[in-house]
Amino acid sequence: MNYETILVEEKQNYIIVKLNRPDKLNALNSLMFNELDDIIKKVELNRDIHGIILTGSGDKAFAAGADIKELHESDDRSGKLFSEHGSKVMSRLAQLKIPTIAAVNGFALGGGCELTLACHLRFASENAKFGQPEVNLGIIPGYGATQRLTHLVGYAKAIELIISANIIDAYEAEKIGLVNKVFPHQELMLKTEEFLQNVLTKGQIAVSAAIDCINASLNLSIAEGLKYESKIFGQVCGTKDFKEGTLAFLEKRKPNFVGD
Ligand code: COA
Repeated sequence: MNYETILVEEKQNYIIVKLNRPDKLNALNSLMFNELDDIIKKVELNRDIHGIILTGSGDKAFAAGADIKELHESDDRSGKLFSEHGSKVMSRLAQLKIPTIAAVNGFALGGGCELTLACHLRFASENAKFGQPEVNLGIIPGYGATQRLTHLVGYAKAIELIISANIIDAYEAEKIGLVNKVFPHQELMLKTEEFLQNVLTKGQIAVSAAIDCINASLNLSIAEGLKYESKIFGQVCGTKDFKEGTLAFLEKRKPNFVGD
């Protein structure tokens, strides 16, 4: 898979996508959004890819935000389209039912932070820095932070971060629940891959069903969400993997999941 602004590394049953404009701190331009959209669409259609790790090229940045040079050209009409274009790609990513992990190797600012928010999990190197500095530029976040950050860290911390434009380090991000785990810089990819590889030993239908139900909770009342969970639970009970997983427990052996 050849792209100009991203690198895609294919592993046995998952892929690593690297944002690849290191001289611009991996700032997200339209071409990068188009290429991300393309790879996500390919993943949606490929049943052999069971997870995605997203990271940044170079040692300094995951992504330092939307490309400010492109953004500067926006007016009130094109600005809305600018936001919708990136937002659509982030939503496509967020709605994937295979695990997606942002391995944050440096600055994750503005759209870069929002891209991590569109992943299911965020692992950070000790060097990582997070923030939504848009108000410094006279704008607001346009790729979901007012919504996803608020869901993730709560109203108070989301408002604090967004209206102050403060940048926080990896440990602060972990403390407020923005980051799942922090690792030494050199171990970030190894630890992230180990985590994903462990998840991929589980029943993949169950993993996807769990992601689906948890994501549904963002848009449903508790009563609706519980109803949805029971429906999906029932569907999962109809799979071969469920019979195998429970039988393996009863026979005191490891399950052999087939994804069916
Ligand atoms: N859009 C476009 N280019 C960007 C960028 C962005 N969001 N962030 C960094 N770059 C470019 C810089 O213009 C510079 O390019 P140049 O070498 O051609 O001048 C290059 O990346 C390196 O950045 P630089 O600012 O020199 O690095 P630094 O270490 O001094 O500072 C940051 C790092 C992250 C603090 C700083 O780049 C920054 O504040 N970036 C913008 C963050 C932001 O506001 N994001 C939200 C955008 S909506």
